Amino acid sequence: MPSKLNIVMIASEVVPFAKTGGLADVVGALPQVLQQMGHTVKVVMPRYGSIDGARYGLRRFWDSLGVWMGNTLEWCAVDVAESGGVPVYFIEHDRSFGRSGLYHDDSFHDYADNPRRFALLTRAGLQLCRDLGFAPDIVHVHDWQTALAAAYLKVWHWNDPVLGRAASVLTIHNLAYQGQYSAEHYEYLGLQWGNFTPDKLEDHGAINFLKGGIVYADALNTVSPTYADETRTPELGYGLAPYLTDRKEEYVGILNGVDYTQWNPAVDLLIPARYTPETLQGKALCKAALQRRFHLEETPQIPIVGVVSRLVGQKGLDLLAATIERIVESMVVQFVVLGSGDKGLESFYGGLPGRYPGRVGTFIGYDNLLAHWIEAGADFFIMPSIYEPCGLNQIYSLKYGTLPIVRATGGLDDTVLQYDEQTGAGTGFKFWEPSPHAIFDTVGWAVSTYYDRPQHIAQMVAAAMGQDYSWERSAAHYLGLYGRALRNKARL
Ligand code: ADP
Ligand code: GLC
Repeated sequence: MPSKLNIVMIASEVVPFAKTGGLADVVGALPQVLQQMGHTVKVVMPRYGSIDGARYGLRRFWDSLGVWMGNTLEWCAVDVAESGGVPVYFIEHDRSFGRSGLYHDDSFHDYADNPRRFALLTRAGLQLCRDLGFAPDIVHVHDWQTALAAAYLKVWHWNDPVLGRAASVLTIHNLAYQGQYSAEHYEYLGLQWGNFTPDKLEDHGAINFLKGGIVYADALNTVSPTYADETRTPELGYGLAPYLTDRKEEYVGILNGVDYTQWNPAVDLLIPARYTPETLQGKALCKAALQRRFHLEETPQIPIVGVVSRLVGQKGLDLLAATIERIVESMVVQFVVLGSGDKGLESFYGGLPGRYPGRVGTFIGYDNLLAHWIEAGADFFIMPSIYEPCGLNQIYSLKYGTLPIVRATGGLDDTVLQYDEQTGAGTGFKFWEPSPHAIFDTVGWAVSTYYDRPQHIAQMVAAAMGQDYSWERSAAHYLGLYGRALRNKARL
């Protein structure tokens, strides 16, 4: 493998420009770290209507980029901005991206043209490389939205002077979202009907973007070792387990890193006070500020359990909803909840402060500042996920000395060490059963440890804050995966 790689990443969301979840954090951070290691990285994403061009210094790069989609030539413009030294190219195509939502409208209805929008993004990213004369060694794509890059490279560009030597790498951040769409869109994708077969792009008569990526990519990964294993089982494989098992040699789990310039209480300028393991009085100030902000009883002795989450089925917050009132009624504990998504869950959690004033605070919406405040001010952070490919919040929590209470699944299981009551070792509290009952018991375990064994809590906080999930380590694993992809491609 060449010691310096040319890498292009194509993704549907990238911090700081557009974000709905952890994918954006990953594609915001990994390219910068790879570039600092000496590789040349370019990032391609859509120019959504919600991106404030002036705020991020976007400038026009090209007025026209012609992209063939089936028999249609789509004309896009390209903007560019710098992010931590990495150029980010924005594909502008008003009809596709000139709306504020990334994937759905305000009522959470997916846009009907999503398959066309993201196939266009993907092809435009490849076409941009050709027109730039930028020959990537690696085309790294993320989730169903850009998975088809692997297919385009094999079907169309295997002999191309610019793209011909590129190996494709697909990162699966969530196997449940596969991009399954009616075959009526297939013509537009321009992938030839001969490839619309069950071993490639077809899935029971429909198109399946992610499956196409899995079949065509030169190497692939998901975002934790445990989730990599889980996705090869019928329960969490969502119909794709056999295809992942087929790619066993080239399919690995690589834990996400954390951008510790953003998520570290020692340097975080968004929180009320900074702190380190040696200066934990700063955390006490953050706790008091959080209690004030959410009109909670301002008592340092009462533990706070935090939630920051998309309110969707995956996150298990319906299970928490089924037991949180019992918890609040039977334990001396406070909750702070930040999230948006499912309307039923929004109204349930939104109604709790009215029923438990001074005990529960809720903010329905998306608010990065509050996310930082909760990480810093809470004592515990709960993630009862049904499945969790990696999860970033629990890793942030560790650094903030906010002990995670998690269901032992996917990346949650890989990053949180179970508390040992005998020795005080561990970094959090884990449970296995996806049930309200198990949540109740485990919150009870954490809360009673807080009151009865404070020395163990102090020991765990120190251990948690000492954990290192910086991107450098993950990036080294990605370089290993890139090597695997290049070798695999060379074999074919
Ligand atoms: P997922 O990508 O499945 O949502 P992750 O834990 O990987 O889960 O990443 C979630 C990211 O989104 C974190 O950076 C978290 O702080 C952020 N986040 C989620 N919901 C909100 C919200 N309501 N307000 C602010 N940030 C949020
Ligand atoms: C997905 C997963 C989450 C993961 C994130 C970034 O949104 O749900 O677990 O941390 O992608 O990889």
